[in-house]
Parts: sequence; C-alpha cells; structure tokens
Amino acid sequence: MQLKEIFLINKADMFPVKFRKSKGECKLMSLSRLNKRCRLLIIMLIIMLIILISHYRHLLHKPVELHLQKMPFVSDKNIFFIETSCIFNTKVRPGRLHLNTKQVCSIYSAAILNPTRSVILYHSCPLLQNYYEKSSNAVKQILKLPNVYIMNTKFETLVRDFLLKNISHDLKKSKLNRKYAPDILKLSLIHQFGGVFMDLNFISLRSLDSLDSNFIACESNEKFTSSIFQLDYKDIGSEFIETMMQDLEESYVSDKTITNLEDLITRNYFQYCNIPAVNCSKIAKGNYIGEYTSKKCGITVYNAKTFFPIDYRQWETLIDPQYAEQIWKNISDSITLYTWKYLANDVNIVKGEFSAYELIVKKYCSEVYDSIGEEF
Ligand SMILES: *[C@@H]1O[C@H](CO)[C@@H](O)[C@H](O)[C@H]1NC(C)=O
Ligand SMILES: *[C@@H]1O[C@H](CO)[C@@H](O)[C@H](O)[C@H]1NC(C)=O
Ligand SMILES: *[C@@H]1O[C@H](CO)[C@@H](O)[C@H](O)[C@H]1NC(C)=O
Repeated sequence: MQLKEIFLINKADMFPVKFRKSKGECKLMSLSRLNKRCRLLIIMLIIMLIILISHYRHLLHKPVELHLQKMPFVSDKNIFFIETSCIFNTKVRPGRLHLNTKQVCSIYSAAILNPTRSVILYHSCPLLQNYYEKSSNAVKQILKLPNVYIMNTKFETLVRDFLLKNISHDLKKSKLNRKYAPDILKLSLIHQFGGVFMDLNFISLRSLDSLDSNFIACESNEKFTSSIFQLDYKDIGSEFIETMMQDLEESYVSDKTITNLEDLITRNYFQYCNIPAVNCSKIAKGNYIGEYTSKKCGITVYNAKTFFPIDYRQWETLIDPQYAEQIWKNISDSITLYTWKYLANDVNIVKGEFSAYELIVKKYCSEVYDSIGEEF
C-alpha cells in the first residue's frame, strides 16, 4: 500500500491541475475514495508504462560497442565475410547473427590465424541491440575475439558511389536483379577498404601473410574461383576491380543472363594481363608452364591446392572417417580447406565420429567445438 500511495502522490504533483480540479474528475484525496474515473486513469497509466517498458526493454542492455563498427578501416589486411540474406528485405525485425556453427568456425579460424588482420563480417540483417547476450555459445566465441568486427551498414549506402550508370539506376529504382547483389557487395567492400574476401565455407589452416598482396585463385584445374581473392584498394587491385565493374556494367546492359563474379574474374584476368585464355592451372603458381608466369601484371594466381585441397567431387570424403588420415596429409600444405556447399547445407556432424571435417573443426576452431553440443 505504501508504494501505491507514493506513486499516486507523485503523479498528482506532476499533473496537479488536471487531477484535482472539478468535482466530476479524478480526485486524489484518499485511496479509499478514488472515484471511477480516477481508477480508469491509473489503470491506463500503468498499461502505458508496461507498453513503454516492453518496447524499450532492449535499451536496458548495454550494447557491445566493439562489434558494431559502422565503417571498417581502410587496410590491405582486412578479411571480409558477408551475410546477404536481408539485402533487399527491409521488413526483417532485428535479430541475432545469422550464422550456423560451420560458418562460425570459418570466421573463428581466420581470426585466430591472422591476429594482425581485422576480420569483418558484413551482416545485412538488422541486429538486436543486445545481440551479444542473445548469441549462442558458439557465436560468442568469435564476438569475444579482439579482431572480429560486425558491419551492419545498409547495402545501398555501401555500394551507391561504386556503381556505374545503368546498374546504379536500377538499384535506385529497386529494379536491380537480386542475383547481382552479393558479387557487387564483394567487389565494393574490397575496392573501398582493401584486403581479402573469403566465403563462409572456408576453414583457415594457416595465416594469409605469406601470400602475395594481389591474388586470385583456381578452384580446380579448369576453373577460377570467386570465393576467395585479395586485391589492394589503391593500385593494381583497385584498377582490376574497376575493370571488372566496367565489364559488368556493359554485360548488364547488353545481356539478360547473369554475369557472375567468376566469369568477370576469368575473362578480365586474361584481358587485363594480355595473355590468351587457358585453363586456370596453366597460369597458376605451382604449375608454371612455359610462357605464362603466375605473377603476370602483378596479380598472382594460386593453384587449387592452395585453398581447395579437396576437390568438390570428393567432398563426401570430408565426413567419412576412413579418409581422415588421407585428408590430413592432403591439406598439409594448404592455406585453407574449402568444405563445399553440400557439406554446409545438408550434413549434420555428430561429435565422436572423427571424420576429417570434425577433427579439423576440433583443431582449428577448438573453442567453438568445445562450446557446442553433440551435433553441429
Ligand atoms: C544503359 O542502357 C541503355 C539501354 O537501356 C543504353 O542505351 C546505354 O548505353 C546504357 N548506358 C551505359 C553507360 O552503358
Ligand atoms: C581445359 O581443360 C580441359 C580438360 O582438362 C580441356 O578439355 C580443355 O580443352 C582445356 N581448355 C583450355 C582453354 O585449355
Ligand atoms: C589425396 O591426394 C592424393 C594424391 O594426390 C589423391 O590421389 C587423393 O584422391 C586425395 N584424396 C582426397 C580425399 O582428396
């Protein structure tokens, strides 16, 4: 009762005129003689208070400033990952980080092995203010690392100044074909801030520091990849990205079929370096053949073994324990392991089976592995 009284008197002080005036209105003389109108007012006040509190509850949690950096530093040592599911979906409510355990391991291993680099996850979906507290144990393992940052800027803001005429026009009119967005985002991030782009299917096995400052890579003997590349933000790398954007603008106009980043990298590399188009392995470092040097025109091409030691046709060996030893040998010289989308999307790993994949997660993402349950 004591509490209620204090509440009422305070309110009365705040609104003395309204509360005390004419006879038919709310009178705050004594609690037992509250008239009907007065009780109604008090109930409404309480309801409003409850609504206010529930609406702004998230503000009571302290935001984790460290992770919410609006813009990354410009540096050739950045490592970018991207999450793009909300780029065109503005109605999504703020939530947690959209990452499964396999993707967490991808970021974790890159951050641990490259402590001098900033590891930045571009996250297109809006985040709760208290997303740190709401995160799973696995996600907390990356958020606690000092070199991991989350970037939550709007796609349009980020790419606006980077796009050429027709693509820019379509984006403004909300007519941009959605399939282009991830590739535009990758190029735009590296062009503005510099560094490596990596997709979330990689597990890092070594530091990236021994690699040349501008590189692209083969995914197999025949094919270039758009899943990993490093280009600088000012010299050759930046010029190469601008060449690709010019090409994209032209093919975007002339052609309804999608030109993906892999196509752009492939044809522009040969054009930019002025060499005839051949299979990727013919120009890759480690497969030096005749007249094609791996460092022609300042952009190194790494062979498939460097980042993709296990061929996509053999992805299932990663989860078959009988291949564990062989895979361990085959990845011994590689910078990363690529786990392919089949493994990422369709497979549940049960702890204790000791497939190569599980052992690699256990070794290269040890805290993530320890923080999760029996399956991931
Ligand atoms: C943009 O597209 C139009 C046709 O829709 C074309 O005439 C024009 O040349 C294009 N602009 C550029 C810069 O390619
Ligand atoms: C690439 O390799 C494939 C098979 O390995 C071969 O059939 C094809 O002719 C090669 N293409 C070029 C351009 O060298
Ligand atoms: C490992 O490397 C050997 C020799 O290059 C190869 O024959 C084998 O297929 C590779 N195994 C896997 C699972 O990639």
